[in-house]
Amino acid sequence: MLHGKRILLIVAGGIAAFKSAELIRLLRGRGASVRCVLTEAGAKFVTPLTLQALSEDRVYGDMFSLTDESEMGHIQLSRDADLLVVAPATADLLARMAGGLANDLAATVLLATDKPVLAAPAMNVRMWTHAATVANVETLKKRGITFVGPNDGAMACNEHGPGRMSEPAEIVAAIEAVLVRDRPLAGRRALVTSGPTREALDPVRFISNHSSGKQGHAIAAALAALGADVTLVSGPVAVPDPQGVKVMKIESADQMLAACLDAGALDIAVCAAAVADWKAARPAAGKIKKKAGAPPPALELAPNPDILATLSKAGPKRPALVVGFAAETENVVANAIEKRGRKGCDWIVANDVSPATGTFGGERNTVHLITAAGTEDWPPLGKGDVAMRLAGRIAGHLAEAVRKQAAE
Ligand code: C5P
Repeated sequence: MLHGKRILLIVAGGIAAFKSAELIRLLRGRGASVRCVLTEAGAKFVTPLTLQALSEDRVYGDMFSLTDESEMGHIQLSRDADLLVVAPATADLLARMAGGLANDLAATVLLATDKPVLAAPAMNVRMWTHAATVANVETLKKRGITFVGPNDGAMACNEHGPGRMSEPAEIVAAIEAVLVRDRPLAGRRALVTSGPTREALDPVRFISNHSSGKQGHAIAAALAALGADVTLVSGPVAVPDPQGVKVMKIESADQMLAACLDAGALDIAVCAAAVADWKAARPAAGKIKKKAGAPPPALELAPNPDILATLSKAGPKRPALVVGFAAETENVVANAIEKRGRKGCDWIVANDVSPATGTFGGERNTVHLITAAGTEDWPPLGKGDVAMRLAGRIAGHLAEAVRKQAAE
């Protein structure tokens, strides 16, 4: 669940700091990397050496350390993580966070970050219920900071009540909840086709098209960014492989279909590839030679399999959502509506690829989203933004389907 996630753990000065050592161990066991910031007071309860040994990374503490700043500036430290976790979050550090102070490295990092923050408070019961702390927590919640705990129970100071820091396993669960909230497609499997296909005429010549793969690759990256486990089946393209995506490189439509059918169970399929409609009926085994005086060879073509239509076929293996593309040069929306019905997919993203639009190979795309509910005209967007918007819509649709199912 936390594989590849980077957690910045801020350990402030409370007796519960000893639990942070166990927290690091649990997080690393789940595949996360942990980097620690230890406050001056925190270092009275747990040593930098403990945190360093468990995190296998250096521990940051001094705001004015020339060596730290030259290796990793405090601003970068605050952003170079997927999540900041404050555990234990003391009354003092919560007050400084609420007040926007930057009087040590922990407070500065928390003020400078653009990442989500989770706080696990730990303090004496009277400190937790004090009007000042209550107001600070209220302020921080309004600003979007998530809290886990504190729990009720016996405290180190022999009092009883709320103030005990949550157990490390509870903090891990809260971390997963925060990270999954930003990853609504976690646990979903997606297939994306992208780029052109190449249909061999002979070993040196082929039929293909102008597809750059930019839109399909951006969709694969956007689905992965929302947490999906993405397989990208791509024809020959010049764009780089998106990060965090399994890429299967193919040439022909037949190979693309085989790779798609090989991808296993899917929740989502997005067919953005420009699959050649026809292939050579009988590709020559050797290079077709020019013969003096002979007419050009006649090309006999055969239809390619329709990958989108194949994936859209009803059955237990059909993905919950199948999205096709319709690249058109005229009657864009009408043609796309007809194509949605003919291919049996759920949604069609239709775009005008007339040469004047510069869509093929360009950075921007003006699309219409055609669903059972009707047609939405999207404004001109960068291909990355089209991809993010589409991925967001896909996540929303699947979440809605889960809600409906639960209500039934
Ligand atoms: O039929 P047409 O090529 O216009 O349909 C476009 C949509 O169908 C795209 O989503 C494309 O990826 C998909 N397609 C396919 N296999 C084909 C032809 C098109 O998956 N052989």
